[in-house]
Amino acid sequence: MIILSIESSCDETAIAVTKDGRTVLADEIFSQADMHALYGGVVPEIASRNHIAVISRLTDAALNKAKIAKKEIDAVAVAYAPGLIGALLVGVNFAKGVSMSLGVPLIPVHHIRAHIAANYIAYPELEPPFLCLVISGGHSLIADVRGYTEMKIIGSTRDDAAGECFDKAARVLGLGYPGGRPMDELSKTGDDTVYKLPRAKIDGSPYDMSFSGLKTSVVNIVHNAEQKGETLDKPSLAASFAAAVSDTLVPRTMAAANELGYNKVAVAGGVAANSRIRSDFEKAANAAGKKLYVPPLSLCGDNGAMIGCQGYYEFLAGKRAGPELNAFATMDLDSI
Ligand code: KG4
Ligand code: ZN
Repeated sequence: MIILSIESSCDETAIAVTKDGRTVLADEIFSQADMHALYGGVVPEIASRNHIAVISRLTDAALNKAKIAKKEIDAVAVAYAPGLIGALLVGVNFAKGVSMSLGVPLIPVHHIRAHIAANYIAYPELEPPFLCLVISGGHSLIADVRGYTEMKIIGSTRDDAAGECFDKAARVLGLGYPGGRPMDELSKTGDDTVYKLPRAKIDGSPYDMSFSGLKTSVVNIVHNAEQKGETLDKPSLAASFAAAVSDTLVPRTMAAANELGYNKVAVAGGVAANSRIRSDFEKAANAAGKKLYVPPLSLCGDNGAMIGCQGYYEFLAGKRAGPELNAFATMDLDSI
């Protein structure tokens, strides 16, 4: 089954062509990051306009690359929630047009479910059930993935997402937007024991997380150093920060896997590209004798292939939409 998939939830326009869910024939991405960098974060209106500007040509490029003619497309999958509403609507309306003109089904896909599905592309043998930590720019949650379209959130952040926290820390350190990757690079030459940063725990909710205190600590350290005219050890602050985020995520996820009796642990989302988090997960999984699934860097961030992959499983589960399909800024992955 050939699916044309569309992702436009934030500042990446992404179009993919996938076959039977897990085979990627083309995965085209146009990143607007440079256009938002000037403002230090994503400007929703600019994101929507740029999606409109490139979506059609990007679709042609994906079909050319995949060597797939329009008449060979069996269905169109589109990310419809969660994300920036105006940005999502561009993809949703484009997808409606393609599905109507070709007379093929339209499949609505939850963006966070699709991040989890990136692991199916990377690991052909992976099948639910398993536990998955999703860490992206807008979400941080632990999901019990019971089936391809059946999942339950067992813990999530009470405030900021891990990626949001990386971006904010990068901003005060003058590293630009998006900040996760430059923070990661900077941390490689730092000493993670130099700065003492908090690792929040939430009483009575062992799998929930909180990153706002960590964010404030980094902001305060930077501002204090500026006020006192002290030189900051930026690489060590970045390393200490990555260690604090990792210490918040890895033990929680492993404990949740133990409690639910899972031997398979997956990680997904843009922050899953982080080198410290990846290596801490490898160590923890080895020590616990669990199998770890982490997508390659190209499938951690937003992409169209993951939408096509999850779209395939949503299709098999009977999910369809018509011209009434709307976009939603927020939606839990277990509430659909
Ligand atoms: O999943 P994603 O591409 O978009 C959302 O759905 O939000 O995640 C983007 C987030 C950004 O906050 C970005 O700074 C972060 O992922 N990120 C990283 C790294 N690469 C991207 N964070 C930490 N380390 C990285 N290497
Ligand atoms: Zn995402």
